[in-house]
Amino acid sequence: MPAVVIVGAQWGDEGKGKIVDIFTEKADMVVRYGGGPNAGHTLVVGNDKLIVRLVPSGILRKDLPCVLAQGMVIDPRSLVTELDELERRGIDANKRLVVSDRAHAILPYHVLVDGLREQGKGAIGTTKRGVGPCYEDKVARRGIPLGAFRDPARLKELVGRALEAWAPVVRAMTDEPMPGVDQTLEMIEGARVRIVKLLASTQELVDRAIKEKKKVVLEGAQGTLLDVDHGTYPFVTSSSPISGGACIGAGVGPTRIDHVVGLVKAYTTRVGGGPFPTELDNDVGERIRKVGAEFGSVTGRPRRTGWLDLPALRYAASVNGLDSLAITKLDVLTGLDTIEVCVSYDTPQGRTVDFPLDQLDVAKPVYRTFRGWKEELSGARTMSDLPEACRDYLRFIEDWVGCPMALASVGPARDETIVVSDPFAS
Ligand code: GDP
Ligand code: IMO
Ligand code: MG
Repeated sequence: MPAVVIVGAQWGDEGKGKIVDIFTEKADMVVRYGGGPNAGHTLVVGNDKLIVRLVPSGILRKDLPCVLAQGMVIDPRSLVTELDELERRGIDANKRLVVSDRAHAILPYHVLVDGLREQGKGAIGTTKRGVGPCYEDKVARRGIPLGAFRDPARLKELVGRALEAWAPVVRAMTDEPMPGVDQTLEMIEGARVRIVKLLASTQELVDRAIKEKKKVVLEGAQGTLLDVDHGTYPFVTSSSPISGGACIGAGVGPTRIDHVVGLVKAYTTRVGGGPFPTELDNDVGERIRKVGAEFGSVTGRPRRTGWLDLPALRYAASVNGLDSLAITKLDVLTGLDTIEVCVSYDTPQGRTVDFPLDQLDVAKPVYRTFRGWKEELSGARTMSDLPEACRDYLRFIEDWVGCPMALASVGPARDETIVVSDPFAS
């Protein structure tokens, strides 16, 4: 089975880095299909921890071709910083990293605008990496595809046009002068020269790999509820993290996707503003944050924590067409006497098992209580190693969502994993 999409089923940070790293063990190619340096995907191998922002989470697999597809927005300086960090660790990504010449460049003015807006009233808690303004430029048809890096004169013209559009916006927010065309180009020149060597038409590469029945992992960033069309708008990112976004972002037809794995934490987290009905603003929430080390991997912000939301997960299963679930961070719940799970919502119109996306300010979650477990889970390698209460919890989630579990994760390391089924084999 060649093309497998791995997608976040909540508000991001579900453990995509760890799970993509595991599923790329047998893969022939890994493709990041959307988002930009707002992502932070953590890979833990032995005592070593690496957080990747742009480069796919398969990068630690020796010789595996890694693709940054055209749905992405790429800050050239962030990419170069990441490549340097990999090189320090003995990984020469330059040899097997291919960057789409149609992915859009995040330039210093995008980062400036993102930061300035976040100081104002309409702040939504972005990562301030320039992601939103860059996608705005793309849709406004004044963006800068990385292919323009090949032609400095053309690049200069495009940067000039974009700066003209952004200048009044910046002037309305600050008296500080904005870097001009030449200064902007100087800031990225070193990165430009290096990135030009990595550019190619990645759509053809991915298409060929799938036609040749190679095993291709399409790696999502962010999560379903941050999707610009299907998430908790306007508290969303500016791209399409859902599985359909893989088709658009990588240029793969929907009929070529064979399997979609939805990643979900055994509880819920969210970074930044926006509704979060099952949020725990109490000692239990604090405990989950501490035990689960729930601090943003990009900004270091404490993540908001809460119980698992099954109507939201069932919504994610529907929007993404999930074939299987990968449930992470089960170990974090160890030691709790009881675990609550949201199974429905009370809304002004009555009780519903659907996720009330447009009424999250008034809908009240209805919980079902599960008994907890005391056993350490990190040594579990098969389902039968798990305590009965934990298996009950997992079975309930599978049944309720109507989606089988492919994998359960019991710790951050590669081997702290129970693999139930291989999505490439189904
Ligand atoms: P991503 O953005 O979806 O890749 O997730 P992040 O890397 O931002 O956040 C997930 C965090 O949980 C990282 O620190 C991982 O190392 C960690 N992690 C992943 N799976 C598990 C797990 O099963 N148990 C525990 N305790 N930590 C995990
Ligand atoms: P990974 O791939 C969690 C959130 C931000 C903010 C909103 C918009 O690691 O799961 P943006 O900078 O994208 O304009 O911010 O989206 N956000 C994420 N939250 N994990 C992520 O990525 C995120 N990427 C963006 O916190 O609420
Ligand atoms: Mg993350």
